[in-house]
Amino acid sequence: MAEENNKQATAGSGSAKPKPPAVKPAAPGKPKPAAPAAGAPAASSARKGVYKPAEERADANPFKDSKVGAFGGWFQERFSMVTPILDYMKKKEVPQHRLSFWYYFGGLTLFFFIIQIITGLLLLLYYRPTEAEAFARFVYIQTEVPYGWLIRQVHAWSANLMVLMAFIHMFSTFFMKSYRKPRELMWVSGFILLVLTLGFGFTGYLLPWNELAFFATQVGTEVPKVAPGGEFLVEVLRGGPEVSGETLTRMFAMHVVLLPGLVMLVLSAHLMLVQVLGASAPIGYKEAGLIKGYEKFFPTFLAKDAIGWMIGFALLIYLAVMFPWEIGVKADPLVAAPQGIKPEWYFWAQFQLLKDFKFEGGELLAIILFTIGAIVWILVPFIDTKASKEQKSPLFTIFGILVLAFMLVETYRVYLEYGW
Ligand code: HEM
Repeated sequence: MAEENNKQATAGSGSAKPKPPAVKPAAPGKPKPAAPAAGAPAASSARKGVYKPAEERADANPFKDSKVGAFGGWFQERFSMVTPILDYMKKKEVPQHRLSFWYYFGGLTLFFFIIQIITGLLLLLYYRPTEAEAFARFVYIQTEVPYGWLIRQVHAWSANLMVLMAFIHMFSTFFMKSYRKPRELMWVSGFILLVLTLGFGFTGYLLPWNELAFFATQVGTEVPKVAPGGEFLVEVLRGGPEVSGETLTRMFAMHVVLLPGLVMLVLSAHLMLVQVLGASAPIGYKEAGLIKGYEKFFPTFLAKDAIGWMIGFALLIYLAVMFPWEIGVKADPLVAAPQGIKPEWYFWAQFQLLKDFKFEGGELLAIILFTIGAIVWILVPFIDTKASKEQKSPLFTIFGILVLAFMLVETYRVYLEYGW
């Protein structure tokens, strides 16, 4: 690869005759540097770190034999790394088996994330992150800006669908043991993406500056207080001892700058790994002849992905139009918190756990248990050594079922108590 790069780097000046090495006259008293042998690089150079390229140059046009159109050729010459990526995508194959359906959820998560970026940018044109203006701006977007209501509803629904898809994607890759060697980092990067996605939900919730969001953020940002050093963290999150306009500015900065930046970084790594390592097949499927065949990633799988995206888009528009999210009433920090304050549904499991542990020291215990659980969950690919040897690991399947059951039961309990 390095050799390949060198060849390409020198390709532009390739046809020129090699110039004789310019040897500086040696300083009096100093020995003359030895003339470099043809093809010998840096070692023969007079100054340390000065590199003399090999005398044999690569062909001036390394792509002269490749079969691409005029535009492709122009691009290749300037950005040659695209060619191996495209070649790779054309060669990449996706195994077909009875669980193949679950491969579509990663792509769907990505689709809703793209919708978030587009609609988020449009909302930014009219939103102002200040205590005085935020709520009024939401009302303005919802009632005055042409199609503003649609953009806002799509943004809110797409956020929920993205979280849902990320959860389905995580549990499906868990049960198919897709995290096993060599895909450990796909799992780790994926988990970080889920945490960042939840961060988007948390920070975005306060932005309309309505009563519900205000008090839910009050409760949510209170949680770390019971942990050592938590007071400090709460102050940093809130920009003061209480939720205020300062908190709104901080949440806004995290929502539109910090989190998108981090997601872009981690998502690039996740998707690069998806391309390089390809899709896995469940353990034992190959040996048992359960792989029906392979289909090309490009264009067959991608086209099917696109069908999934279109279905996702239709569902999104249906939800946005038929079940609009309310704006509520403007937050007033001076009034008492209304009854039944709860976070967004994807935090209900943690919320219920905290409620279950409402005894002396219980909240801290719940936080510790949850943190240990999250650490074990992220380390699963390294602990499940059986799966990495392509052996079935039923203990981990049971573990996954227990985690899923815990989340569903706790979420359902909040629903029973508070309703939707
Ligand atoms: C923003 C969130 C995420 C996006 C956009 C995303 C995107 C994708 C895409 C497009 C694929 C390839 C298609 C597929 O197998 O579904 C994939 C594969 C994968 N993802 Fe994610 N993902 C996200 C979150 C997660 C999470 C939360 C996990 C687990 C903790 C995870 C773990 C994996 C694994 C292990 C694979 C490999 C699947 C296989 O080879 O069989 N991802 N991801």
